[in-house]
Amino acid sequence: MTSGASETQAARPLLAGRRALVTGASSGIGFAVARGLAAAGAAVAVNYHSHGEAAEGLAEEIRAAGGKAVALKADVSKEDDVAGLVDRTVAEFGGLDVLVANSGIQKDAPVGEMTLADWNAVISLNLTGQFLCCREAIRAFRAGPERQGGARGSIVCMSSVHELIPWAGHVNYAAAKGGVRMMMQTLAQEMAPERVRVNAIAPGAIRTPINKEAWGTPEALEKLLHLIPYGRIGEPEDVARAATWLASDEADYVTGVTLFVDGGMSLYPGFVGNG
Ligand code: BGC
Repeated sequence: MTSGASETQAARPLLAGRRALVTGASSGIGFAVARGLAAAGAAVAVNYHSHGEAAEGLAEEIRAAGGKAVALKADVSKEDDVAGLVDRTVAEFGGLDVLVANSGIQKDAPVGEMTLADWNAVISLNLTGQFLCCREAIRAFRAGPERQGGARGSIVCMSSVHELIPWAGHVNYAAAKGGVRMMMQTLAQEMAPERVRVNAIAPGAIRTPINKEAWGTPEALEKLLHLIPYGRIGEPEDVARAATWLASDEADYVTGVTLFVDGGMSLYPGFVGNG
């Protein structure tokens, strides 16, 4: 008699045995992504810059549930910090398989009032910081073994709908995210022969502290919803599920793409009944 094993065996968690680093994981999207990767079986380094308690709390929660996690402080706009962060992750888990380059900030101003400091701060963290994390992760992937049936390493860059949609009053942020898109595609092209996959997620409006002004009152939310055909704001878990899949071997033939997780925000809803 055949056993019907595929029906009776519990599915292996998508990221079982994988070791991941998530930057900017003490709040918002990064927090949910770190938690989601851990729930899918990955060991997770929870990077933070200023909110140590939240990051430690998440790492503790993951460990209490039987997973592996460590909270690691680093400013990902600083080269030495990033090298140290990846080194500590590798030392803790014995290697690195997945990077989610998520850290990001906004410093918004109309162009006439945008200081060079605000321009530089956003470019340094949101674009250069992702480059540094990708480079160090790639070095760590190269130090690890090749794998049968899957990539040697997988990178998910946290982009934004603003890699595509221009955003008045946010030129530093939109320029950084446009840069993330081209960096991601270039690295994907460069690294595919080494079986390293590089992709991005472009979240739309997600309920996190970075954009509380846009959803924090019923009036603001109502205005925001005009931009979202799907009719609801996104939750960090919407992004976490996408990141888990993209990082996993389920997405093994996927590289160089941006997955929009935006409820249709990038579908130009202003054209409905117009144009
Ligand atoms: C920004 C949010 C904004 C969203 C949609 C994100 O990348 O960080 O502040 O609400 O894009 O515009």
